[in-house]
Amino acid sequence: MSKPDVLAVAKLHPFYQKALESAFTVHDRTHITDPAAFAELAPRIVGVAGTGEASVPRSLLAQVTNAKVVSVFGVGYDGVDVAAIEHGIPVTHTPDVLTDDVADLAMGLVLSVGRTIPQADQFVRTGQWPNGPMPLARKVSGARLGIVGLGRIGKAIAQRARGFGMSIAYTARSEKADSGFKFLASAAELAANVDFLVVITPGGAGTKHLINADVLKALGPRGFLINVARGSVVDEEALIAALQNGTIAGAGLDVFANEPHVPEVLWRMHNVVLTPHMASATHETRQAMADLAFANMQAGTSGQPLRTPVPECAALK
Ligand code: NAP
Ligand code: 8YV
Repeated sequence: MSKPDVLAVAKLHPFYQKALESAFTVHDRTHITDPAAFAELAPRIVGVAGTGEASVPRSLLAQVTNAKVVSVFGVGYDGVDVAAIEHGIPVTHTPDVLTDDVADLAMGLVLSVGRTIPQADQFVRTGQWPNGPMPLARKVSGARLGIVGLGRIGKAIAQRARGFGMSIAYTARSEKADSGFKFLASAAELAANVDFLVVITPGGAGTKHLINADVLKALGPRGFLINVARGSVVDEEALIAALQNGTIAGAGLDVFANEPHVPEVLWRMHNVVLTPHMASATHETRQAMADLAFANMQAGTSGQPLRTPVPECAALK
């Protein structure tokens, strides 16, 4: 018997791809360039598989008229037009299972930019040590940490930062009175009061360029920006200017405006640490994400309750 058809709208992680192939025929949207061929396939599609960054526009969802679920491999789903619900297609994502890894990488970037660890590695490898010591770094323990977005991952970052004796403040859409951390109403106010500003909000229209030139100015020449959220949350041009002009001290960036393309000007800067959107990229977490994304696909396509619908679809759980 033939397997039901699902549509992959991005290159999927092999763990997710393999799980899907065990139960479905997986069609790669990126390889179907002929509109007529897609129009013929679209009504047979029962589920759509994507990644956290994948674009799932309303126009595509309108074509897959028999799809029962969009299962995203990632917690962020800013590329998915959740107005898809209008088409009766619920969207699922993979929260919680990646929280630890993303918080770990955020702290790794804090330590990397503050203590100049990648630069120190290069210093030794390029034989510079015999010529004298490296410039002094910035102490992390006891420093002031600002978190933009105190959600699942933001709280996990705060928990880790406590272990470093950091003082913690945050901004979010609403105050979390039970968090025990200081709330500041805007990103600019927060930036003005911290040494390290970590951004961990969702992407999309609601947060576009939340970190702009004013916020970077408030962070100041001794402040560091860490972005593990989405490239869209930071005004990348303003950031590059701030790094060039010494408006801020440095940055640790896992996400960029036009991934996987990173402006070459950033490659050459000594006060930045760059990672390739890898905050959840461990064997353990990617397997857990694949398991959850697959479970959601199976549930959605077989009429079972969804494991982790996005908040906009929670009523459908
Ligand atoms: P979450 O639990 O939903 O937390 C999101 C937080 O962002 C909430 O505290 C929310 O505030 C805050 N927020 C939303 N819009 C805001 C705005 N306009 N201004 C200020 N704060 C705002 O999500 P999560 O699980 O922590 O994940 C957060 C994001 O991290 C994901 O959506 C994804 O984009 C990113 N991420 C990146 C990677 C990576 O590989 N780099 C991996 C995983 C996730 P309220 O609580 O007040 O609503
Ligand atoms: C993944 C992410 O790298 O969960 C998210 O929102 O950005 C990351 O965990 C991504 O979704 C996989 O492509």
